[in-house]
Amino acid sequence: MKPIWSAFVALLYFFSLPLFAQQPISIIPQPVSVQAQPGVFRLTKATSIHFGQLPGQYAANTLAEKLSRTTGYPLRAIPGDRGGIQFSINATPNPALGAEGYTLDVTPKQVVIRANQPAGLFYGMQSLLQLLPKEVAGSKVAPNVAWTVPAVRITDQPRFGWRGIMLDVSRHFFTKAEVKRYIDQLATYKYNVFHWHLTDDNGWRIEIKSLPKLTEVGAWRVERSGKFGQREAPKPGEPAKYGGFYTQDDIREVIQYAADRYITVVPEIDVPGHSMAALAAYPELSCTKAIVQVNPGSSFSDWFGNGTFKMNIENTLNPSDENVYVFMDKVLTEVAALFPSQYVHVGGDECYKGYWANDPGCQALMKKLNIRHVEDLQGYFMERVAKILQAKGKKMLGWDEILEGGVPGDAAVMSWRGIKGGIEAAQGGHNVVMTPTTFAYLDYTQGDPTIDPAIYANLRTRKSYSYNPVPEGVNAKYILGGQGNLWTEQIPTLRHAEYMTYPRAWALAEVFWSPNEAKNWAGFVPRMEAHFGRADAAGINYAKAIYDPIIRTVNKDGKAMLEMEGEIPGLDLFYSFDDTMPDESSLRYTGPVLIPDGPITLRTVAYRGGKPVGHLVTLKRDDLLKRRKEQ
Ligand code: ACM
Repeated sequence: MKPIWSAFVALLYFFSLPLFAQQPISIIPQPVSVQAQPGVFRLTKATSIHFGQLPGQYAANTLAEKLSRTTGYPLRAIPGDRGGIQFSINATPNPALGAEGYTLDVTPKQVVIRANQPAGLFYGMQSLLQLLPKEVAGSKVAPNVAWTVPAVRITDQPRFGWRGIMLDVSRHFFTKAEVKRYIDQLATYKYNVFHWHLTDDNGWRIEIKSLPKLTEVGAWRVERSGKFGQREAPKPGEPAKYGGFYTQDDIREVIQYAADRYITVVPEIDVPGHSMAALAAYPELSCTKAIVQVNPGSSFSDWFGNGTFKMNIENTLNPSDENVYVFMDKVLTEVAALFPSQYVHVGGDECYKGYWANDPGCQALMKKLNIRHVEDLQGYFMERVAKILQAKGKKMLGWDEILEGGVPGDAAVMSWRGIKGGIEAAQGGHNVVMTPTTFAYLDYTQGDPTIDPAIYANLRTRKSYSYNPVPEGVNAKYILGGQGNLWTEQIPTLRHAEYMTYPRAWALAEVFWSPNEAKNWAGFVPRMEAHFGRADAAGINYAKAIYDPIIRTVNKDGKAMLEMEGEIPGLDLFYSFDDTMPDESSLRYTGPVLIPDGPITLRTVAYRGGKPVGHLVTLKRDDLLKRRKEQ
């Protein structure tokens, strides 16, 4: 470069510096109030991090540790009240903040985080981290980064007290280290409940010392891969090598790890259905007492499409057998002793009653209780389990099926089959956690089913983001909050668990934390994209399905028309029907197009700002027609 030019470029750079220094504010979930201020706070190796009172120490230490790891500055948190970065508990509680809220004031001179409770300081710290350059999310020193924080005044507190994510560790096993890594990300987005689905047909994952076979036998299944529900059944004598479980020490360690991050771990022991792993260990607890094996994802049920189903291998506990309640007492005694959570989730979902209907013991019990419908035996079972929990100082939480047989008084309900169960439960005065499949099921595909590995249904991030957990006409005081559920039938690795979780769990974090009025999809999108960069820096996986076209076929006047849409604003969708690869010189989608006759294939890809951003989606005519909906 010629000297005169380099001087000019340097000058240009100098004048543009304030622009570069003022990074945009991209916090997820969106705080209640964000007022940008002039200037920036500059982090240096001399920045002091102080906490006013001991309860602030954890947030301050966490910040110091993350900052020193990525900046390379030797930062430590120490007691005091004049830090460059200051954590303080309010001497007089600020009523606008509640138990989890905080204020975060950044000026060029100082960063001050205040809260009524330590949880608020922790959330203020998470917001501060999100104001720093994305490299702060990494795990090693990032060179050549301007460690600045835009000046801002933030006041924040959550909309709901239950902001949860469920991880199913039965269908696939995730190690203790993987579970911690997963929890750490939840804390980044201010989730405060980790629902741990510990038992199911495909593995029992929690050590119960008084019932050792649960993990000696129930934690292991034959090794299989491929589509869940279509895998080969165990062969006679085949060793069960896939699986694992958490010892009680492991569980305590995870509970502490989560508690350090202000996350309550809610355990789930899924009964009386979904119990094949328990029955593999203790077959005498079923009606038929048949010897069963831990299911490896082979088919054992028929689903009839109207919500009814049949289990061809028994996976239910026998509600008429007193030994079942002795078993439940042993399990729940150890569970209650391990988990500080006031709620213990005892499942209750998808319980097939066919074996109960044919069992003489169940028939006798129905007679004794004057029960006419076998379905109502589940209410009896749940009542017995609730009493066991009550005796241990715990409350029962269950899937919305528990409403069907008469739900115990202080039980809370997780509404998953839509919102109907949640409405009914709230109207009956029960606490409710809203987690409907239609908005909150993280196992569903995020993008086009021809791109994402197929599973039961589809759920776009935009749809998750649009959710409002308080149904109309329901007293909001019964809605504890909401939760995203990650079932892992088709998720064999943590990397893929992350892919399925994000960005939808960021969208749901905002649904559960931010005021409903503050939500705005177009405003969320650039923040979500900023967090793609942060996830890249942290090595966290996520789906990029938001860049893939949404493709529909509609019937208009008897003709099959192609309709396409970008999930986010600003995408240009290019397509072809003539077996050419679509690019910017192909047809640009502007409105419904007649799907041509003949052996044609749709190829389409999204561009933004002249660059391809999404996957190429390819659909043959027959597959397009299968999507046909009447308009
Ligand atoms: C569920 O999805 N079976 C609760």
